[in-house]
Amino acid sequence: VFNGIQTLLQLLPPRALAGNFPVSGVCLSGLEITDYPRFSYRGMMLDVARTFVPIEDVMRFIDNLSHHKINRFHWHLSDDEGWRVEIKSCPELARVGGFRGGDSPVWPIYGHWDEKYGGYYTQEEIARTVEYARVRNVEIIPEIDLPGHSRTAGKVYPEILCANPRVNTAQTAGYDRRNVWCATREENYALLDKILGEVCALFPSEYIHIGGDEVEMDQWSDCPHCKAKMEAEGWTDGIRLEGYFMARVTEILARHGKRPAVWNEAMEGGGLDPGARVHGWENRKAGLEAAAAGYRTVLMPNEYFYFDMKQSPLEPGLTWAGVVSAEKNYSFDPAREGFTAAQMECVEGMEAAFWSELYASQEHDYLDYQTYPRICSLSEVAWTPQSRRDWADFSRRLSTAHLARLEALGIRYRTPPHTTPVRRITPQVSFSSSIRESTSNPYSNIERYRHYARTAVSCRPGDWFLYSFAAPVDCRSIELITGYDFLPRGIVTRGRVEVSYDGVRFERAGVLEKGRITVRPSAPVRALRIVSECTGNGETHVILYPPRVEPR
Ligand code: ACM
Ligand code: ZN
Repeated sequence: VFNGIQTLLQLLPPRALAGNFPVSGVCLSGLEITDYPRFSYRGMMLDVARTFVPIEDVMRFIDNLSHHKINRFHWHLSDDEGWRVEIKSCPELARVGGFRGGDSPVWPIYGHWDEKYGGYYTQEEIARTVEYARVRNVEIIPEIDLPGHSRTAGKVYPEILCANPRVNTAQTAGYDRRNVWCATREENYALLDKILGEVCALFPSEYIHIGGDEVEMDQWSDCPHCKAKMEAEGWTDGIRLEGYFMARVTEILARHGKRPAVWNEAMEGGGLDPGARVHGWENRKAGLEAAAAGYRTVLMPNEYFYFDMKQSPLEPGLTWAGVVSAEKNYSFDPAREGFTAAQMECVEGMEAAFWSELYASQEHDYLDYQTYPRICSLSEVAWTPQSRRDWADFSRRLSTAHLARLEALGIRYRTPPHTTPVRRITPQVSFSSSIRESTSNPYSNIERYRHYARTAVSCRPGDWFLYSFAAPVDCRSIELITGYDFLPRGIVTRGRVEVSYDGVRFERAGVLEKGRITVRPSAPVRALRIVSECTGNGETHVILYPPRVEPR
């Protein structure tokens, strides 16, 4: 019923999706829709450890997932750079480990070098968020990443680390590799029982994600206690010790009525609980192996599902898993991966991930930018039968209908950039208009040469947009753009453009064509002005980009 309502909302004008009722003057013809998901698990992971995401933003993120029929939210709550969940029996974990930089023992790794920053969620906030998600048909699966990726926990409680005399930060140019829980220190399991006990009580999900990825095995091989355990058991590879660690933590979860979800490496240690759910992230083979071993499997090979990767070569984002465009994500067909029918039964679904290393040094709207419209693609990858999936059809629906819904939801989605690098300068500019700005995309975006700005209302004859440079700009050309970069919407449909060389007198420079103009000035420019000659533009707003200034 919930998903059916999302479909119904999508048949209404975009503002309905934003909850702006009543929607009047709309007639839906009688119709019958038969629809159901291809996969039961349609997930999105958000890393709030590298970059803290305030609870209101997490709720908004979940709300937007629910509109896309994503029904699992994997909440990556701990990592080397932060611990984000309040643990009442171990209050230091969040109170100290939720912050880094400044006087915090947790070093800043990504951005913000000089200040102390971060945050964490109280249990009360988490309980509210769990309920908020539940009524939106989203189950939250929390992750405490163990036994690796635990530098923060090790900074707060150094005793949990291996008794390793060799590791010191001087050897590694200040980089502290001690981020692994000692697997043989018995007190660690008692501590994990307290921590995970609280996590299990907070989240009603059947599964609790306990990590298992990228364990620095040399921490164990250099630890006298871990080494002794391996020798006693006849294990030559640290991965067997990971198997032991995961089995111990699985016992803890079982005592609290939960099953473990793990990253695929946790399978390799042997003896992983048959009731575990495996997230195959490292490559396409990982999911195949998990399903072949009979595990409930979530497919998320990074080259298709890591939304922290660049969307095209010239955009922000990481690249170690390649460029993950929406088209690349959309091309993922599990049926082509080589699963047998029985193995396919084990595949619960797909999940994409937003890891937040880069987010720390980006603007706030980077999360929206990196995840939309890729989440729209994910939604179909996990929902729609392969026979109904077609990239050309998807991208047409996206641009003719769905982006307007994202807009109505206030999502600052990605628009494709120019594909060829252009040399540009960004002279200091101030921007003003006779029309007031929107709150979501303020005019300061233009002054910061950032993304685009949006007016709060449409344009009328005589409305003006003024770009004033702090100093005369000697340049080859200046391009002014109204409307979205990639589709002719939100433009000033008719308007003249004026240029000023002294900041006082303006002379005609031309007219807008498809909302744009390239001015080739005869002298250094002080200001440019667009004057609207249109009565509305068929939209509720105008989009304006920063001026594109080509140097001489
Ligand atoms: C991961 O990307 N380390 C799961
Ligand atoms: Zn150890």
